[in-house]
This record gives sequence, C-alpha cells and structure tokens, in this order.
Amino acid sequence: MAKVTIVGAGNVGSQVAFYASLKEIEEVVLIDIVEGMPQGKALDILQATAVSRVNSKIIGSNDYLMSKNSDVVVVTAGLPRKPGMSRDDLIEVNARIIKAVVPEVIKYSPEAVLIIVTNPLDAMVKLAYDLSGFSKSKVIGMAGVLDTARFRTFIAQELNVSVKEVEAVVLGGHGDLMVPLVNHCTVNGKPISELLSGEKIEEIVNRVRNGGAEIVKLLKTGSAFFAPGLAIMEMVEAIIKDEKKVLPCSVLLEGEYGIDGLFIGVPVKLGKRGVEEIIELELSNSEKEALAKSVEHTQELVGKL
Ligand code: APR
Repeated sequence: MAKVTIVGAGNVGSQVAFYASLKEIEEVVLIDIVEGMPQGKALDILQATAVSRVNSKIIGSNDYLMSKNSDVVVVTAGLPRKPGMSRDDLIEVNARIIKAVVPEVIKYSPEAVLIIVTNPLDAMVKLAYDLSGFSKSKVIGMAGVLDTARFRTFIAQELNVSVKEVEAVVLGGHGDLMVPLVNHCTVNGKPISELLSGEKIEEIVNRVRNGGAEIVKLLKTGSAFFAPGLAIMEMVEAIIKDEKKVLPCSVLLEGEYGIDGLFIGVPVKLGKRGVEEIIELELSNSEKEALAKSVEHTQELVGKL
C-alpha cells in the first residue's frame, strides 16, 4: 500500500492530490495550516473519485499525525510569486515555512522520500535536506521535469509537431539561468539545430527560462499549477512504483558535473529508494559555461539562508 502526503493544499498541492487519487494511490493526505481548507479540498477530490470510479482514500487535515508513515511527502507549502517577482524574492518567507514544516514531516515519516517544490527551489531543497538529516537520496527537488515540459511544449508548438515526439532536458538551478540543453533536444531523433535557426532556438531557450514568470504575469495572482502538479506526480509515481525512471531533478551533487555540496537539477534515476543514480551527460563547452553560471547563482542564493 502506498501513502503519499502533500503539505500545502494550495494550487500546486491540491493538483497533486487530485492526480494522485485519480491514479488510485491508496492513501493521499493533504495537510495545510489553514483550518478547513485541506478538509474541504479532500472531500471534493474524494467525490471526484466517485465520478471517475477509482479507489483512493483521501484525507485533509491540519494535523501532521495524519501523515504518519508516508512513503513520499511532497512539500508545496509556501508563498508563490507575484507579477514582477523573481523566485529568489521568496527566500526569507519560504525558508521560515520550510523550517516549520520539515521537522513535523520527519517526526511522523522518518522513512519517507521528500519531494520539495517550494521556491526558490534549489535553496529550499538544500534547507530541507539540512533540517531533515535524511540521506541525500531521500531529499529531491522538483523543477527539471516542469522546465523540460516547457521546453518540449515550445519546440512542438514552433515546429507544429506532436509534443510526444520532442525529447529534451533542462539542467541547472530552477531560475532564469537554467540550462535547456539544445544539443540534447531532438524531434523524432533529429537534433533541433537541423530544424530551427539559431535565433529561433535562442528565443525558445529564453522563453523556457521565463516560462514560470510568463504564467505569473498572465494570472496576476498565483503561479502555475497544472503542469507543476503533474510533474510532481510523475516523480511520485516513479518512486512508489519503483520505476527506475530517469528524470531531471534537483539533487545534492558531490563531485558530479564538477559541483560539490549544492542541490542542482540533473538527470537522476528515481526508484523506491529515491535517487538511485545520478546520470552524467556529456556537455558542450557552452553548456558547461551556462551551467557554471547557474551554479554560481544558486551558491549565492544558498549563502542567504
Ligand atoms: N504549513 C502548512 N501549509 C502552509 C504553511 C505552513 N507553515 N504556510 C503556508 N502554507 C500553505 C498555504 O496555506 C497555502 O495553502 O501553503 C499553500 C501554498 O499554496 P498557494 O499559495 O496556492 O501556492 P502554490 O501555487 O501552490 O505554490 C506553492 O510551490 O511552485 C511553488 O513558488 C511556488 O513556493 C510556491 C509553492
């Protein structure tokens, strides 16, 4: 039996709970600080399972006791951006929230794999790791799956092809300096450099880097949640079903890619034990330079914790 807890029943967290219940994860717990809200959303989602004719027990609560013995705990508690803000502007307020949430989570689920979603992501996942005392394989940040989905979406749109045919990967920190790997992006096996001009590729890379801000600006209140929710779900499934799936995630690097002591987005193999392997891709010199810039920025951000 799999049990998944989501802390933060806001836009992103409630989407994850919704997808998890539709995928018939046996027990899904939604926790939030706001009284009544996780309970109300849980009841709504439970009724959706009746429409869908799927079985999933979904519970909303303000009490971490309900999260006891979870296999995976997803942390989405924290403030989202407002238009004009960068993710980094959230560091102080969200660090306070992570400091309140993580000790409660680990008290009841000492064996869980933690997936951190709160922004600024790479700093928050580092903070959660330090607070948890968990092994590095059990604390993972979600960003790369979402950033990669954005990259694939824009390439598919531009070339008028199915998004299913586009393969891509985005490395680095989850910020404006993230590194969409142009040399690893293919459509039906063909490199995009053969299909699009350098100028067009550059334009798409920039749009990916600002993909979150583009949505924040349109929404005016809150940030993206449908794609983030599904991206988290893909990671949750890979872990609880022990899929050994390779996905880009923010993980603690200790020498890989020449990076030491920081959480940075790279492809990893996810299974029951969390991060089971870090995959080192061959990077071009320009990709290495771009990654170094992103790492430098993440290092500065972590220094502010
Ligand atoms: N404990 C539990 N829940 C908390 C706490 C806390 N200490 N502090 C805040 N929350 C809850 C809020 O009550 C709210 O319901 O976190 C939820 C956040 O939901 P939204 O405001 O809808 O934000 P969302 O869009 O879901 O984004 C959450 O993920 O993608 C990132 O940048 C985003 O940091 C943000 C996080």
